Amino acid sequence: MEKIVKTNKPKETKELGKQLGLLAKENMVFTLTGDLGAGKTTLTQGIAKGLNIEKTVSSPTFTILKIYHGRMDLYHFDVYRLEGLHQDLGFEEMIDGDGLTVIEWPMYIQDMIGEEFLEIEIKFIEEEVREFVLKANGKAYEELLGEIQL
Ligand SMILES: Nc1ncnc2c1ncn2[C@@H]1O[C@H](COP(=O)(O)OP(=O)(O)OP(=O)(O)O)[C@@H](O)[C@H]1O
Ligand SMILES: [Mg+2]
Repeated sequence: MEKIVKTNKPKETKELGKQLGLLAKENMVFTLTGDLGAGKTTLTQGIAKGLNIEKTVSSPTFTILKIYHGRMDLYHFDVYRLEGLHQDLGFEEMIDGDGLTVIEWPMYIQDMIGEEFLEIEIKFIEEEVREFVLKANGKAYEELLGEIQL
C-alpha cells in the first residue's frame, strides 16, 4: 500500500510529520530517504510534535543518534556518516525498543531493520515543493497509512 502526499512549504511537511507522530505506535520504524536537503529532518520535527516532544529536533548528522522523550521515545538516527562502516554500535537494541525509530539514510543499516516499517521517500519537485511517497511494509503500517488525511 502506498500513498503520495505533496507539500508546498516546510510547514506543510511538519503537519504531515505531526500526523505521522500522532498515529505512531510503540516499536514502529520509519525510514526516510531523499537527497541532502530533501526534508527528512523537517519531517522528523513534525513527527516529534505529534509525539508531544517539546525539544526542537535538530539534524543529528554528527551524532548518528539522538533520543527525545515524549508520549513515547523518539530515536532519531542519521546514518549518513556510517557509510561503509560496519560495526556493532548497539543500534539493533534501539530499533527493537519501545520508542519510535526514525532513520535518515537507512540504506547503510538496512540489515538491522526488520521487514515491517514505513518507507518514506522524499522527492524534490521545486524550491518549496516536495513529494512524499509513503509505502507501508506490514499490516500495522497499512493501518497507519489508512488513517493519514491529506
Ligand atoms: N516543502 C518542504 N518540505 C520540507 N522542507 C522544505 C520544503 N520546502 C523547502 N524546504 C527546505 O528544505 C530544507 C530541508 O532540510 P532538511 O534538513 O529537513 O533536509 P534533510 O533531508 O534532513 O537533509 P540532510 O540529508 O542534509 O539531513 C530546509 O531548509 C527547508 O526549509
Ligand atoms: Mg537531515
